[in-house]
Amino acid sequence: MAHHDGLAASFFAHQRALLDRDFARAAGELAAYRAALWAHMHDEESAVLPRYEAFGGDPDTPVRLFLGEHGNLRKFVDEFVARVEALRAAPDDRVLLELFDRQATFKNLMLHHDLRERNVLYPFLAVRLPLAEQAVILAARTCRA
Ligand SMILES: [Fe+2]
Ligand SMILES: [Fe+2]
Repeated sequence: MAHHDGLAASFFAHQRALLDRDFARAAGELAAYRAALWAHMHDEESAVLPRYEAFGGDPDTPVRLFLGEHGNLRKFVDEFVARVEALRAAPDDRVLLELFDRQATFKNLMLHHDLRERNVLYPFLAVRLPLAEQAVILAARTCRA
């Protein structure tokens, strides 16, 4: 779960650039955040969630819930890319504040997603996967950090 903390730090760097109204830097930090988040979700979708599904998963937390949240997170980040480009072209404090409002909603979604993975997905797999397989999944995940 160190990945989630690293992602949060990367998003914070993006928001700090927004606070500085340095939209070129904000765009660069957001591009780095987007790449790291996409890689992380790809790892989960290709290596983690299929194992969760194969074991039946938690009945209250089906795979489609995780995939739906990933889809929403992707849509938000792509929207932010467009909004930051617009701010770069025409700086405007109202538009900037709207962006922070949208990002507050995004952060709330991310918080719930993070808790679902922390409390359900990873503990569910931890008691079912052999240690050797956990190590393979972890190795695949950490090289993206
Ligand atoms: Fe995750
Ligand atoms: Fe996830």
